[in-house]
Amino acid sequence: MAKDCNSSAHLHPHLVLLFVLSTISTFSVVYWTSQRSPASPHCYNSPYEYPHENQTIHLLSFASAWNHLTFSSNPPPKLLKIALFVKKWPHRNLAGGLERHALTLHHALAMRGHEIHIFTANSSSSLIHSNANLHFHLTRPTKSGQLNHTLVWNQLCSENTTARPFDVFHSESVGLFHSHAANISNLAVSWHGIGYEAIHSNIVYDLLRNPGEAQHLSITEILPRVIDEIKFFKDYTHHVATSDHVGDVLKRIYMIPDERVHIILNGVDEDVYNVDEDRGREFRKSLGIPEDAGLVIGMAGRLVKDKGHPLMFEALKQLFEEDETLRNNTYVLVAGDGPWGKRYKELGPGIVAVGSLEQKQLAKFYKSLDVFVNPTLRAQGLDHTFQEAMLSGVPVVGTRFASITGSIITGEDIRHTFLPTVPSIKNAVRWIWKERQQGRLKESGGRARKKAVELFTSAKMTLAYERLFLCIWSQTHVNSSLDFCSFSIIQ
Ligand SMILES: *[C@@H]1O[C@H](CO)[C@@H](O)[C@H](O)[C@H]1NC(C)=O
Ligand SMILES: *[C@@H]1O[C@H](CO)[C@@H](O)[C@H](O)[C@H]1NC(C)=O
Ligand SMILES: *[C@@H]1O[C@H](CO)[C@@H](O)[C@H](O)[C@H]1NC(C)=O
Ligand SMILES: *[C@@H]1O[C@H](CO)[C@@H](O)[C@H](O)[C@H]1NC(C)=O
Ligand SMILES: *[C@@H]1O[C@H](CO)[C@@H](O)[C@H](O)[C@H]1NC(C)=O
Ligand SMILES: *[C@@H]1O[C@H](CO)[C@@H](O)[C@H](O)[C@H]1NC(C)=O
Ligand SMILES: *[C@@H]1O[C@H](CO)[C@@H](O)[C@H](O)[C@H]1NC(C)=O
Repeated sequence: MAKDCNSSAHLHPHLVLLFVLSTISTFSVVYWTSQRSPASPHCYNSPYEYPHENQTIHLLSFASAWNHLTFSSNPPPKLLKIALFVKKWPHRNLAGGLERHALTLHHALAMRGHEIHIFTANSSSSLIHSNANLHFHLTRPTKSGQLNHTLVWNQLCSENTTARPFDVFHSESVGLFHSHAANISNLAVSWHGIGYEAIHSNIVYDLLRNPGEAQHLSITEILPRVIDEIKFFKDYTHHVATSDHVGDVLKRIYMIPDERVHIILNGVDEDVYNVDEDRGREFRKSLGIPEDAGLVIGMAGRLVKDKGHPLMFEALKQLFEEDETLRNNTYVLVAGDGPWGKRYKELGPGIVAVGSLEQKQLAKFYKSLDVFVNPTLRAQGLDHTFQEAMLSGVPVVGTRFASITGSIITGEDIRHTFLPTVPSIKNAVRWIWKERQQGRLKESGGRARKKAVELFTSAKMTLAYERLFLCIWSQTHVNSSLDFCSFSIIQ
């Protein structure tokens, strides 16, 4: 039963807050492969459900990330008409986490022939009509720049009733307002950060607060927000968790029935991020970094406090003061914009701020690194930058948050994540230095690449979503000859 297009919904007061929270493009993923335990794709920290050969499973009750399954890349058995709800449709190179996810995924689905209708706010940035299967339904945003849910609902109803009805609905975060979503059975919502994850970040922020600095308001707001989310999340029929950790929280703490929670990890573009050695050498050369540099560390993203840059700055400063050899031979490449870009330069000539990079340049940047470090303090969502670095064959290190240790740096490798403290980051950098001097980083990078190719490509993500959408669609169409929800390991 679907919600009547004639009925209206009331905006919940906490919704705006949630929207802001869940659309912040933020990632904290860490991955480090250890010498001792080469990562096995089937061996993770949680009790792992993995189908046996010839075993048929029902996909909606598959407890692990769908990225572990291999779906056929043949043309889809049915072309779907899909409605996508996303706050903002980004310019290709300037997208944060949620928007980048929407763009990468739905562009790929359109390439596979599906008809995609994008309900989004009309913004000043020009839209890329790169594919005839992408159709835009623009609405005027509210004064605070959010989607106007009333306008979106009206447009949706008009398209659904005057043209061919939609086969499936996909909301990026609360793009489709929850009370509008209520009772739409062929709908999935993807979460890129939920309130419960923010609790951990809030604790970290407060511990790092300077004496005399006021406690941030969010510390008292976070629990009511989580409780509010628990109440309204159930209005969405299917939930896609973008990390293993969020999958667990949605089932256990948000109490959404297991068969309505599906884990599909983010994927990044494997055509852009790959292991082209020449590109890395070229990039180093263009920055004047010597061939025999002792260690090249990279960081990318917004250079702000939330992303842990004050901590990283302090850790590097102390290390450089304490160890001249390390200082003289270490290069730190910093990609991105933000107030901390300038500050880093104070640390000396080894710090190279390369500014904000286009995807192609970013791919070269990753490839030029010995190691990628992300000191983020935001625990929400799954960070694309780690996945991009890994796909480029670069080992990654970062803060010990559950999304990271659950999906990226798993099991024993947790030893190679750091805590959000200066001493812990210093230890990690010293350890990286040692690994580099002993020539072990290349091998770690190879393992990172292997894992990323297996799990983190946009092709993996796209085929998983396509299958989920087909499954959801087939469930609402009583025709037993079209069962897309069964999956057998031998296809
Ligand atoms: C879209 O149209 C179909 C066919 O009329 C209807 O069954 C479905 O409930 C509609 N969905 C929404 C969200 O209005
Ligand atoms: C959704 O369905 C439930 C149970 O069938 C019903 O009580 C509720 O009023 C419906 N909500 C909306 C918004 O249609
Ligand atoms: C799986 O099925 C194939 C073909 O039916 C069969 O040859 C094979 O032995 C089966 N494998 C297992 C582990 O049962
Ligand atoms: C979107 O905004 C542009 C300029 O800001 C305007 O020219 C255009 O008419 C708007 N489109 C819609 C559908 O509102
Ligand atoms: C949404 O759009 C409607 C119709 O234009 C308008 O009346 C309403 O004030 C808008 N809501 C917000 C929150 O801007
Ligand atoms: C580091 O570089 C400075 C300046 O070039 C030089 O004076 C110093 O000896 C170097 N220290 C080491 C340990 O290489
Ligand atoms: C069920 O699907 C099959 C295969 O696509 C099709 O031939 C058949 O007409 C469908 N039946 C109904 C009742 O829709």
